[in-house]
Amino acid sequence: MATVNSNFLKLQSNYLFADIARKVTAFKNANPDRRVISLGIGDVTRPLPPAVIQALHKAVDEMGDATLFRGYGPEQGYAFLRDVIMQYDYKVRGVTLAPDEIFVSDGAKPDVGNFQELFAQDSIVAVTDPVYPVYVDSNVMAGRSGEIKDSQWSRIVYLPCIKENDFVPDFPAVRPDMIYLCYPNNPTGTVLSRAALQGWVEYARREGCVILYDSAYEAFITEADIPHSIYEIDGAEEVAVEFRSFSKTAGFTGLRCAYTVVPKALRISDGKSGSVSLNALWNRRQCTKYNGCPYIVQRAAEAVYSERGQSEIMGIIAGYQRNATMLRTAASEMGFAVYGGVNAPYIWLRVPDNTDSWGFFDRLLQQAGLVCTPGAGFGISGEGYVRLTAFGSPEDTEEAIHRLRSLC
Ligand code: MLT
Repeated sequence: MATVNSNFLKLQSNYLFADIARKVTAFKNANPDRRVISLGIGDVTRPLPPAVIQALHKAVDEMGDATLFRGYGPEQGYAFLRDVIMQYDYKVRGVTLAPDEIFVSDGAKPDVGNFQELFAQDSIVAVTDPVYPVYVDSNVMAGRSGEIKDSQWSRIVYLPCIKENDFVPDFPAVRPDMIYLCYPNNPTGTVLSRAALQGWVEYARREGCVILYDSAYEAFITEADIPHSIYEIDGAEEVAVEFRSFSKTAGFTGLRCAYTVVPKALRISDGKSGSVSLNALWNRRQCTKYNGCPYIVQRAAEAVYSERGQSEIMGIIAGYQRNATMLRTAASEMGFAVYGGVNAPYIWLRVPDNTDSWGFFDRLLQQAGLVCTPGAGFGISGEGYVRLTAFGSPEDTEEAIHRLRSLC
């Protein structure tokens, strides 16, 4: 009999959002007449913008035309998309990248989960706590986590993000090799100031660490001078990889398109006396294990950068931002301590003292037909909180507020 990779057996339970989906399905089956409103998983609800749909139709027609049909595309993404990303996501912010530093893919989640493969097995990983579970679980699968004790892995360095430190992580006591940072943050919805991010870049340069920077929510930043990209900080190109996604920005959660920036200046030790380029290694990895995001999807992503595409997605994002403001304001009025939701589609809500985050989740579901995400699912520092998303329709968000008010 073949033997399992025992690291998979270490994983504690189901993936967080799968667990929640199971509980919600059970509730719906038991209460077929209740309309459940989800402020749980961060999935968008507005349809794809018309500019994207038009580009999809055109690309589909091309694929049915023998003279325009495309087979395998470049594993790194088509030049037409990498060029507009370079121009409109970076050059306009004063960041110079070359197209071959951008790798288009079918999602930030797979890229974030896969990127750790390039590092030595005994690398030390640091994560903020609470944290998007993919960063931790992918390193557990890779055998980098050590053992679990009191809900934390012995070889993972946790950086608490709590109200006492304004949800800004302190530098680790133990030097890590890889540091996962996600800003605007999932799940707390908080941000790092330019000075704080600069501090992290300086730390990584000083200590020889690589920052894996997830900026999937940058389009939701409303305040001036909050960095949208880590490369806005001088020297970051030598220490950081950046993950971006069209999912929350342009409604691509079901269509799938994202990209990862791996600067050529970023090198890590070869384990002897030299160094290797992460850009070259990621390129090698992608060519071996990935055949590229579909042509029609990349054409759809390209349309996001057209004048019409930009105006349409800005309208959609503004709608989600209004939901976030409604949720924040209403929850504060109800007496909850509320964080996030200003530069992010997530609201981090302190639950009442007499309950814990799963208890509050159950109460919201059972008594109000509302789905949230329990903070404890993101790590021990998430206990005592739940996360609400602003990705519902305005009507559902209002109804959710109404139900929350009746319950509380
Ligand atoms: C979330 O709810 O945290 C996100 O939707 C998960 C994801 O983007 O994979």
